[in-house]
Parts: sequence; C-alpha cells; structure tokens
Amino acid sequence: MKKRIFSGIQPSGNLHLGNYLGAIKQWVDLQDEYETIFCVVDLHAITVPQDPEELRKKTLEIAKIYLASGIDPTKSTLFVQSQVQEHTELAWILNTLARLGDLEKMTQFKDKSEKNEKETVGVGLFDYPVLMASDILLYDTNVVPVGKDQMQHIELTRNLAERFNKRFGETFVIPEGKLSKEGALIMGLDDPTKKMSKSAPSEYNYIALSDTAETVHRKIKKAVTDSGSEIVYSDDKPALKNLINIYSLLSGKTTQDIEVMYVGKGYGDFKTDLAEVVVNFLAPFQERLANISDDDALAILESGAEKARELARIKMKQVREKIGLLV
Ligand code: AMP
Ligand code: TRP
Repeated sequence: MKKRIFSGIQPSGNLHLGNYLGAIKQWVDLQDEYETIFCVVDLHAITVPQDPEELRKKTLEIAKIYLASGIDPTKSTLFVQSQVQEHTELAWILNTLARLGDLEKMTQFKDKSEKNEKETVGVGLFDYPVLMASDILLYDTNVVPVGKDQMQHIELTRNLAERFNKRFGETFVIPEGKLSKEGALIMGLDDPTKKMSKSAPSEYNYIALSDTAETVHRKIKKAVTDSGSEIVYSDDKPALKNLINIYSLLSGKTTQDIEVMYVGKGYGDFKTDLAEVVVNFLAPFQERLANISDDDALAILESGAEKARELARIKMKQVREKIGLLV
C-alpha cells in the first residue's frame, strides 16, 4: 500500500516562485509514489483579517494554480478545507489536549503576533497549529511535505497524536515531516538573507506566478548581486547562489553546468538568460491557468471534498467513540 501525503497552502497573498519551487513543484513529483491529498486551507487564512470576496476568489485561484502546476485530479485528492467540517470538529477535540505553553513556543505565532499588543492578537492565530494538526491527523497521513518553517507545527502534531493515542488508545497515525529539497528555499531578490515572501514590503522581493515577461525582466535586472563579477555558486555569494538555484530548478541544469556555461561572462548575460528561463516557465504555466474554467475547478473541488469527507467521517467516528461522545 502507498503511504499517504497531505499538504496545504493558504489562499492569501500572491503566490510566488518560492511557493512553486519550494512546495507545489515537489508535490507534483510525489503523486506517483504516494497517495496524495492537497488542500486549500481557507480556515487558516482567516486567522488574519481577509476581505470575504477576495478570499473566495483566492481560494479558487489557488486550486487552479495547483491544477496548472500539474496536480492531477485523477491521481490526487484536491479540496478546500472548509468544505469538510470534520477539520474544525477535530480541532476542538485536540484543543482539549493542546497546552498553552506549547502553542506559545510556536515561532510562526510569535512572528505573526509580534506587531500587535497581546490584548488584540486573535485566538485563531494562536490556535492555528491545532487546526493544522487536525488537517493532518484526520487522514491517517504518513508524510507531510513542508518548508522548514513548518517543521515545528509537525512536531506539535506528532505530540498531540501521541498524547491522544496514549490516553484513548491507538487512533492516529504519527506523521513525519518531509523537508523540501535542498536549495529549494528561495530567498528574496532584494535581500538574500530573507526568504522570498508574499508579504514582503517591496515587489522587487519576489516573482509572482502572475508576473508578465516585462515585469520578470525588470525584477531580475534589479535583483541584488554580490561583489565580484564571476558566476560562481558559493555561500560567499548568497545573492548569486539564490539566482543560480532558481535557474537550476526551473531549467533542470545542475548548478555546476550553469557555472560552466557562464565562464568568462558577467552578471548581465547571466541575468538576461535567467529572466528568459523564468519567462519560459511562467508563460506556458499562465496559459494553462487561464484555460481552466471556474466551473471545471469547482467540479474538481467538489469531488475532492466528497472523497475527503468519506475518509474524515470514518476517522471522526473512531475519535468520538474513543473519547466517550454519544455516537
Ligand atoms: P506560505 O507562503 O508561507 O504560506 O507557504 C506556502 C508553502 O510554500 C509552504 O510549503 C512553504 O514552505 C513554501 N514556501 C513559502 N515561501 C517559500 C520560499 N521563499 N522558498 C521556498 N518555499 C517557500
Ligand atoms: N501552515 C501551513 C503553511 O503555512 C499550511 C498548512 C495548513 C498545512 N494545514 C496544513 C501544511 C497541513 C501541511 C499540512 O505553509
């Protein structure tokens, strides 16, 4: 039997090349080896304020981005979190096992809440990792592909599952986190010490999946580079290393191949070619995206939710029995 994978992305902000290379592209490659479930986690997105119309639009758009990237609905289950009510039901039950002290240690919570006074930080933001644990545990997930920043949440999920199993008997599979490929952490084009981010203040930080060819050329031209002029892949040149990573991941060429290609050439040639590589990926991607109708995407999401509901219902029945709810 194939092992099961679950992962999700929030429908907020503009998806960028980092999201694609660090997450979605790798999920596409896992579809044959694993049984895969991919989710648009809209209930996580509302832990910070969202415009309702925007949220609905974004949710559908993320689903289409999954599809245009190569998530194949005949191989993977694709659905929207809020359409399977068991996620919130299990989250409540896990809340009764989760500890304040553990949640207070979560870096993502600390980062996101830092800017606000404690009095005004939402309880949903605090409880975010427990909902994430529910997403994972509902489906007897074996493996969760995530970025490094999410590993702490996976650890919490494992603890909650173990605590539940110990107290009520074997119920949940203990999942494992699977880190994205080395080199797949894409840094900001304007600052190679911070990861490319949809919430970056400057648009020169990221390449959005919706950027035009002209924008891509402009952003890459402006991308910061290191001192010197040779094209070498080295930790001493973090800005260039990041650009070579992007080049390599999108073209399939190794970083060494790329170094060899640019012996005797400078940043100008390299950047022009890199912009071409990015555009050669984005243009067909955007065309596939434009060709997916709302109706088609909605139908795929509905059939995905049906499959997910079936699995979730069975798991919740076990949970309810174990903890002593009337079934
Ligand atoms: P986020 O945009 O933080 O909601 O993350 C969605 C997914 O994309 C997660 O799996 C992240 O680990 C991944 N991701 C986000 N930013 C980057 C980045 N700069 N490089 C690689 N992966 C990223
Ligand atoms: N918290 C994850 C992120 O920000 C998104 C997410 C929600 C998720 N539920 C999940 C990822 C379950 C993996 C499994 O990237």
